[in-house]
Amino acid sequence: MFEHLLVEEKGQIAIVSINNPKSLNALNSATLTELNDCLAGIEGRKDIRVVIVTGAGPKSFVAGADISEMVDATPAEGRAMSLLAMEAFGRLEKMPQVTIAAVNGFALGGGCELAMSCDIRVAADTASFAQPECGLGILPGFGGTQRLARLVGEGRAMELIFTCDRIDAQEAYRIGLVNKVVPKDELIDACVAMADKILSKGSYAVSLAKKSIHTGLDTDLASGLLLEASNFALSFASHDKQEGMRAFLEKRKADLTDF
Ligand code: HXC
Repeated sequence: MFEHLLVEEKGQIAIVSINNPKSLNALNSATLTELNDCLAGIEGRKDIRVVIVTGAGPKSFVAGADISEMVDATPAEGRAMSLLAMEAFGRLEKMPQVTIAAVNGFALGGGCELAMSCDIRVAADTASFAQPECGLGILPGFGGTQRLARLVGEGRAMELIFTCDRIDAQEAYRIGLVNKVVPKDELIDACVAMADKILSKGSYAVSLAKKSIHTGLDTDLASGLLLEASNFALSFASHDKQEGMRAFLEKRKADLTDF
């Protein structure tokens, strides 16, 4: 169905793999368009509650935006590419499903930016991360100047972007760029295990928490706290809240179904 993506569904989990093996999964406009379409198709579905994003092949998550497409691009074309990626990546952040990046290798430039757009990052011990754009005479254009600073702080983001240093998975973990590092062979299993744990909780409550965290980080504390109170109130209208609390009091396992 897609030329540049592989999509596999395992129960309530969709695994979306960027699949441009000849260029180490570099993101060209066609791939970004497909990713946007794919995520738009998933975001309204109630039967898919976790999306895992990874790269096809043995050594690369995504080696960046496609340099061969950008080399002769005009400023307007560069802007259009940036906005296209921002639309697709923004979906990962806004969709009600939990999004997990399974970083299986190079996560460079647009690849690091794709991983940062997911809610959670799990890295293979062989993964590496960089924002090499300034070495190409450009700057991160798929959200890197914004999301890297939010994830690892302003000073570390500036150092990584200005020096273009490539860091390994352990260093990415140390600075808070990834949540977890696992042996390469166990990467997808580790992500599926994390997804299963999340799926055992109330999916509707998880989606409200996701929305509260992402929207809250873009606003001031007082507005974020008000938003939390509103979403907290919404959870009180759910079947899951009744079931979850009654099950606790009745000392039985809760049957949480809302999404
Ligand atoms: C296009 C790419 C590519 C990329 C790799 N390839 N990365 N093509 N765009 N981003 C291609 C190579 O040209 C090569 O094609 C093939 O993939 C294999 O790559 P090699 O370099 O031979 O592999 P290796 O020696 O293992 O080195 C891997 C690598 C290196 C370290 C990942 O390829 C590399 O540095 N790539 C560029 C990384 C980068 O600068 N990313 C940021 C891009 S800018 P052939 O045809 O020779 O086999 C960006 C901006 C985002 O992301 C915002 C834009 C708006």
